[in-house]
Amino acid sequence: MSAQLPGLFLTFEGGDGSGKSTQAALLEEWLLSQGRTVVRTREPGGTDVGNEIREIVLHRRGHIAPRAEALLYAADRAQHVSHVVRPALERGEIVLQDRYLDSSVAYQGVGRELEADEIRRLSLWAAEGLLPDVTVLLDLDVSIGRSRLDDARTRYDRLESEAAEFHSRVRDAYLALAAAEPARFLVLDAALPVEELAALVRARVSAALA
Ligand code: TYD
Repeated sequence: MSAQLPGLFLTFEGGDGSGKSTQAALLEEWLLSQGRTVVRTREPGGTDVGNEIREIVLHRRGHIAPRAEALLYAADRAQHVSHVVRPALERGEIVLQDRYLDSSVAYQGVGRELEADEIRRLSLWAAEGLLPDVTVLLDLDVSIGRSRLDDARTRYDRLESEAAEFHSRVRDAYLALAAAEPARFLVLDAALPVEELAALVRARVSAALA
């Protein structure tokens, strides 16, 4: 199980429209069928304070300075780790989470050009140093992600509204993060069929649980 705590900490990362929530839902279903206790959660959000921060950071009108944005995500993460994630891992449960600190490194560090290393340090401080045991990166061509979103959304949030060039930087940043930590990351081609992806995710998680 976890290198740091009794539970297992699994995160899903990837661009907008890469299918993270679909895969997280399928994995949750499977883990429950195996009799596991699962806490399914997400960032931003996942706590009451986090949901208020989510409203600001995703939907507030007007410009938010990049550093303020990075600190809002970090504040959300600090509250979430302290109130939800760490307690569940201490109880020996499986935390299944949409987005975590790799999102901050990719979107704020590289997308907003705030320096990946500084954002990683800020995020680790906020998260009390807690890293996931397994991170599934759903890698997808930016234009495919965008067209999936176009089908699903009536309005875009602040980050989704960024230009294609921003999202390409985010994608490259994720791939670089995965290359730097191959033991933690499972990189999957998000254009594969949903069931095929789910089977690959299950195989990786089974190995982590063994
Ligand atoms: P959300 O709707 O939760 O995610 P998704 O688009 O994956 O369904 O939106 C969260 C947005 O916030 C998403 O565009 C990525 C962005 N984000 C950051 O920029 N930094 C972060 O640290 C996190 C957690 C998310």
